[in-house]
Amino acid sequence: MRDGVVLLADHYAPSSTVRGTLLVRTPYGGRFPSSLIFARVYAAHGYHVVLQSVRGTSGSGGVFEPMVNEVADGADTVAWLRDQRWFTGTFGTLGVSYLGFTQWALLVDPPPELTAAVVTVGPHDFSASSWSTGSFTVNDFLGWSDAMARQEDDGDGPVQSGLRQLTARRRLARATAGLPLGAAGRALLGSGAPWYESWLEHPDTGDPFWRPYRFGAALDTVQVPVLLVSGWQDLFVDQTMAQYRRLADRGVEVGLTVGPWTHTEVPVRGLGVLTRESLDWFDTHLAGVGGPARRSPVRVFVTGGDGWRNLEHWPPATTPRSWWLHPGERLDVTDSAVGSAEFVYDPADPTPTVGGRLLAPGGGYRRDDALAARADVLVFTGAPLTEGLLVFGCPTVELEHSSDNPHVDVFVRVSEVDTRGRSHNVSDGYRRLAGASGPVRIELDPIAHRFTAGARIRLLIAGGCLPRFARNTGTGEPPVSAVGLRPATHTITFGESRLTLPIGDDRPG
Ligand code: BEZ
Repeated sequence: MRDGVVLLADHYAPSSTVRGTLLVRTPYGGRFPSSLIFARVYAAHGYHVVLQSVRGTSGSGGVFEPMVNEVADGADTVAWLRDQRWFTGTFGTLGVSYLGFTQWALLVDPPPELTAAVVTVGPHDFSASSWSTGSFTVNDFLGWSDAMARQEDDGDGPVQSGLRQLTARRRLARATAGLPLGAAGRALLGSGAPWYESWLEHPDTGDPFWRPYRFGAALDTVQVPVLLVSGWQDLFVDQTMAQYRRLADRGVEVGLTVGPWTHTEVPVRGLGVLTRESLDWFDTHLAGVGGPARRSPVRVFVTGGDGWRNLEHWPPATTPRSWWLHPGERLDVTDSAVGSAEFVYDPADPTPTVGGRLLAPGGGYRRDDALAARADVLVFTGAPLTEGLLVFGCPTVELEHSSDNPHVDVFVRVSEVDTRGRSHNVSDGYRRLAGASGPVRIELDPIAHRFTAGARIRLLIAGGCLPRFARNTGTGEPPVSAVGLRPATHTITFGESRLTLPIGDDRPG
């Protein structure tokens, strides 16, 4: 690198006809499974693969500081690549999550030899994934920091490593529930992950602190074909959708595949789809062999029974349909009900996370009846649907909301209650509010979902979702150091309060 630091990489050379070169930059080391899913499979298909460990990881020199060195180190790696006698003259990039972030870092100033990219669950903006709701995404970013701090302790064997993972989960739960959040996180991390507090100390995503963590500029400079792969329950799916929209709006050739997966499921349950589609993408756009890379630009998995669907763009044409909140815990297609409902959010007993876009084994699609039964959760349920309802895009929830405490968060969830009364999450939204009262509009997670005929649509409203989001302590103290706890009584006035779903074309396809 330009400062003399040496990074390590494994070079996988194809033994068959050479199709091109691929670069993968990872902080997770080059051993199995990375060696298989990012390198061997592609080398076996004719690609030279450089699997490089980023600065400060797995034997590479320097110090690991998440995200902030990837622009310079990516550019210097490409300069090195140009000089290799086996380099084929052009290259593609691939990788999952942080390995996607390193691709956006390179694409801020794309080298001319870069010809195609496959970015899987890869964020371009860490400030947004940490703080875009107004609350810190504590489980995911503290948990990831802890995993990064400890990943190289695993040299002492699989049993110790398994045990460490088990206790790490318990210790993470304790740390996300602890106060003050900064000190509780530090107790978990020990001397590892020195960056952690600085993330907590910068709640404003517009703060210049976040500039080195943000590569949205790449979305304005990319010209090469990019395939984006994600899962509906991935913590970064909102960023993948923003990437798709900005590239598609600029006329860049972009593919989008979204399966029914969480972040960690994408390279496991989604591996077959991911590998096939990546190889097709590189064969077409890098090697120049084979036909069109895919049957349609967009492929989404429609949850609720339909399976994969090919689309020309995302979202497809939809028509909004609303359900208003009514007394008696009802959702109904008639508007302007009279009345209101209240719930008390107590930060000493915060409403828990149940499923959703959480980077943890409990994330994803889950039964949420027990959440709906809590006293600090409002529930509104519609009548059984007379026919199936296909939804494509982001549900929205508008609330006439007020509170006796200006420091409050609102969590909203759309669930589906089946004919046997079992409820499962479909789409979530979260927002830290700027004041005690006023209209609130929350855009929820994107979905491609069929509500089944006979099932009922349910809306949940609460004041927290811990550990996915750091609790609002209710005092206005800085999140890193807050210790005081003040409950809030939330009131939702029915009137214009409603859920709106974008309803898609229900022809089979
Ligand atoms: C990941 O690479 O999976 C990851 C990176 C940062 C935060 C969360 C997940």
